[in-house]
Amino acid sequence: MHALRDAARAAAANAYCPYSHFHVGAAVLADGKIFAGCNVENASYGLTICAERNAIFAAVAAGARRIQGLALACVDATDDAPAASRMPCGACRQVIAEFSAPEMPVFVDGVGDLTVADLLPNAFRL
Ligand code: THU
Repeated sequence: MHALRDAARAAAANAYCPYSHFHVGAAVLADGKIFAGCNVENASYGLTICAERNAIFAAVAAGARRIQGLALACVDATDDAPAASRMPCGACRQVIAEFSAPEMPVFVDGVGDLTVADLLPNAFRL
């Protein structure tokens, strides 16, 4: 998980976040490779995409269909910030669930080790 954590932290440096100034990086392990993503904002705010989804979609675009682990780093969250400011948003939780098993490990930097089921119990699936 250390390699994933480091990749997530590194990806945060590339975040395009001129509106929130909140840099986020994520990394997933899929097919033995690490795919990273950062948040990319837009002047039309609703078009913003989160780091987690960019990382997962990069893996899918490379042909992966299952991810084996995810790390998330909200590097601008201050030490005294609540854990909630470091956690994946609801939309990303659903996307994570689409490509993972409920017991897949999710490392949230500054919070600790969780699973997909911790983040989204009883996820919707078709
Ligand atoms: N953000 C993420 O990248 N992932 C999350 O799970 C939560 C929020 C980004 C979106 C936006 O660019 C910034 O953090 C502030 O909401």
